[in-house]
Amino acid sequence: SVIRREDYAPPAYLIDTVDLCFDLDPAKTRVLNRMRVRRNPDVPAQPLRLDGEELNLARVLVNGAGTSFKLEGNQLVLESLPEGPEPFELEIFTTCAPAKNTQLSGLYVSEGTFFTQCEAEGFRRITYFLDRPDVMASYTVTLRADRAQYPVLLSNGNLVEQGELEGGRHFARWVDPHRKPCYLFALVAGKLVAREQRIVSRLGKEHLLQIYVRAGDLDKTEHAMNSLMAAIAWDEVRFGLSLDLERFMIVATSDFNMGAMENKGLNIFNTKYVLANPATATDTDYAHIESVVAHEYFHNWTGNRVTCRDWFQLSLKEGLTVYRDQEFSQDMAGSPSARAVRRIEDVRVLRTLQFAEDSGPMAHPVRPDQYLEINNFYTVTVYEKGAELVRMMHTLVGTEGFAAGMKLYFERHDGQAVTVDDFAAAIADANPDSELARRLPQFMRWYSQAGTPHVSAETHFDPAARRWTLKLSQSCPPTPGQPHKEPFVIPVRLALFDRDGQPLPLRVSADAGAAAETTGEAAPLERLLVLTEREQTFHFDGLDAPPVPSLLRGFSAPIVLDFDYTDEELLILLAHDSDPFNRWEAAQRLVTRRALDFIRSDAEAKDAKVLDPATLEALRSVLRHPALDAAFKELVLTLPAETWLAEQLDVVDPQRVHAVREAMREQLALDLHHDWVWAWEQHRDNGAYRPDARSAGRRALAGMALTMLCVAARETGDVVWPGKTYQRVKDATNMTDRFHALSALVTAGHALAEPALQHFYAMFRHEPLVIDKWFALQAGAPDRGGDVLPLVRQLMQHPDFNLRNPNRARSLIFSYCNANPGAFHRADAAGYVFWSERVLELDAINPQVAARLARALERWKKLAEPWRSAAREAIARVAAKPDLSNDVREVVTRALAD
Ligand code: ARG
Ligand code: ZN
Repeated sequence: SVIRREDYAPPAYLIDTVDLCFDLDPAKTRVLNRMRVRRNPDVPAQPLRLDGEELNLARVLVNGAGTSFKLEGNQLVLESLPEGPEPFELEIFTTCAPAKNTQLSGLYVSEGTFFTQCEAEGFRRITYFLDRPDVMASYTVTLRADRAQYPVLLSNGNLVEQGELEGGRHFARWVDPHRKPCYLFALVAGKLVAREQRIVSRLGKEHLLQIYVRAGDLDKTEHAMNSLMAAIAWDEVRFGLSLDLERFMIVATSDFNMGAMENKGLNIFNTKYVLANPATATDTDYAHIESVVAHEYFHNWTGNRVTCRDWFQLSLKEGLTVYRDQEFSQDMAGSPSARAVRRIEDVRVLRTLQFAEDSGPMAHPVRPDQYLEINNFYTVTVYEKGAELVRMMHTLVGTEGFAAGMKLYFERHDGQAVTVDDFAAAIADANPDSELARRLPQFMRWYSQAGTPHVSAETHFDPAARRWTLKLSQSCPPTPGQPHKEPFVIPVRLALFDRDGQPLPLRVSADAGAAAETTGEAAPLERLLVLTEREQTFHFDGLDAPPVPSLLRGFSAPIVLDFDYTDEELLILLAHDSDPFNRWEAAQRLVTRRALDFIRSDAEAKDAKVLDPATLEALRSVLRHPALDAAFKELVLTLPAETWLAEQLDVVDPQRVHAVREAMREQLALDLHHDWVWAWEQHRDNGAYRPDARSAGRRALAGMALTMLCVAARETGDVVWPGKTYQRVKDATNMTDRFHALSALVTAGHALAEPALQHFYAMFRHEPLVIDKWFALQAGAPDRGGDVLPLVRQLMQHPDFNLRNPNRARSLIFSYCNANPGAFHRADAAGYVFWSERVLELDAINPQVAARLARALERWKKLAEPWRSAAREAIARVAAKPDLSNDVREVVTRALAD
């Protein structure tokens, strides 16, 4: 049943210590749980209700004696407990079956090794407990298992004892020096090897860092270790936060529902975010590993030392930790332009995924008000939009002010389970004179109101007064359960340019008063406007002509900016804006405008000239620019995603969107042919592989050039470039170059794609993460006459396909349903039939993964006919199934609502 935020009540009992003893056996693991429990003096006396799921209960003892208990649904209820405030011993003995745990929540077995995943509510699948984050306890954990099969036994904290047992078994005992909520509990037992690194912190303390993997994977752990060391050093320098453990462990598993998990001192990772060497991982993989390793490490403070009071506060730790990992990745990128590239990539994710979520049936505030299944709320809204809210706080109080706020946050709340209000209050209280402190209750609407605000800008120029006026108005569309929205606090960074692209000083007129902040004596070239009303006007003086405004620089707020730029103004910004984000944005606006105009027309898309000569010329000059970074060029030349274009339309014909985007790509490929040849020649050779931002950018641009040359070859019948590309698949010296080449052939639909795929498969058949790429590339390929779905169905029969492995399921099924709209939205609805079959099939195995797939059709109401009706039918088919998991039921019920 639905859980509501307003129903929060503190726990009736507290658990001070937990002593867990595991006899590990895949078929039947025995768990002895001895807790010291006491009544919470602040809560009226009531029975103790412990959560448990799929457990076999064998024994319950209170202070060593039998006691009466009952089982109500998934709860163990104890009514006759000792009265008074004194602690008592509660001993619970249960068994569970890790080998049968296909949900990968709780204790499970992956390739013969035991792992746990407890966030959000997996601990109750291990033992009966108060499974909520505001119950924090000290843990002692004893693991017993067969020595030959499970030589490595790990849990949180420090190893205090280990030894032999009879019958070939052995044991290890771990004590975690830090109190923690049970969602941070972890254990691992199996055949693993570790890369080890000893480090000395700034405080002079020694730490042991370990990365545990399967024996053959040790040569793929160097990058993760480097990333971990860099993250540790960064958090000390940037926020004064040091590692608080003698030992910090990362363990990789190939069966994992999400990316990774920040269990105290024992992070468990999807192999995808740990393992990399130049032969098997791409630049993108390297970057993801750097950021996920850092993210989980940063949780040690933001999440573990200070945790969430309840799961509605999830963004307290996730928004803040994503913000921190984004800042870290920017610092690691180095140059200002490489930092900007990372920012653009983050915004692109936010705008394509989170904006769509925010306008669909799953829209929810960053701090949700209700849920049926909390796992459905590990979303881009809670994570990425949550990070933007923290970023806006940073913008409003400045870098030093933000650091002071963080310091105050830890002074106040270290060791506690708190709320997002507590965090925002700390940042504001440390900066009492800031706009954040002045407007805190209003700022908090960002946490409570769902939906993406729109800000529309109108300008007026008065030549006689030499005054330029900017009127900003905000609004926010209704979302489920929230028909009306109050105004937000929206920081808008602004600069002005003249028609030659020269920056203009921003002189705010006297009567603009408090609306704009003055930051110095000379008129600055950039200002931060803070929009707080529904409508506000800002004046700028001393201007001879209407300027070109660069608004929302650096994407200073997670909003949609509606401003009717002329093409000429966008071309000026694309050529001259000193803010790389808005420079990129100018190109996106130009190209999106052309695409949407064409989509809305009834012109034939095949061979159409969607882009006009001026836009093409502007793109060409970016590509040929002597000073811009390759990575930035690649971003500018990347066409807006089909899903992004679809979101801009009221009614979507997905085939039309696909055809128009393909036509634009063909046009870029043909009209800039010489430039692509040039780009390839200039960027193809990058020496020995290093995953740094600069050489990664060069490889990305070279890869894009190859794709364009292969696409052009399809039209011209050229055989030279596809031949060279095929050769590159065979000869490349790293995975990035090899995969770019393979993907160029597949994207172009060239006849050489088939032998190239076979060659690639043969080379990497023993590398699961590479085989995932091989599946994903084929399932994500541009559709030609409906050929992708039959291929996907055929690949499901491939001996390497396994629906139980989340990475593999995602690589084939999600790549088709969630990431290939042109192939998925078939007029014959066969894509939707496939989708509903897979959702139901997966739901019986792993509801969390099934629920993610279930979201593939949530924007069905935007579709034109016949897709709209077909999609509704497919969703209804899923919804009609009797015992659906809560996870899938919540998604399909919301999708079908009103
Ligand atoms: N806290 C983890 C991370 O962001 C995510 C774990 C979510 N797992 C889940 N089953 N909901 O870093
Ligand atoms: Zn996280």
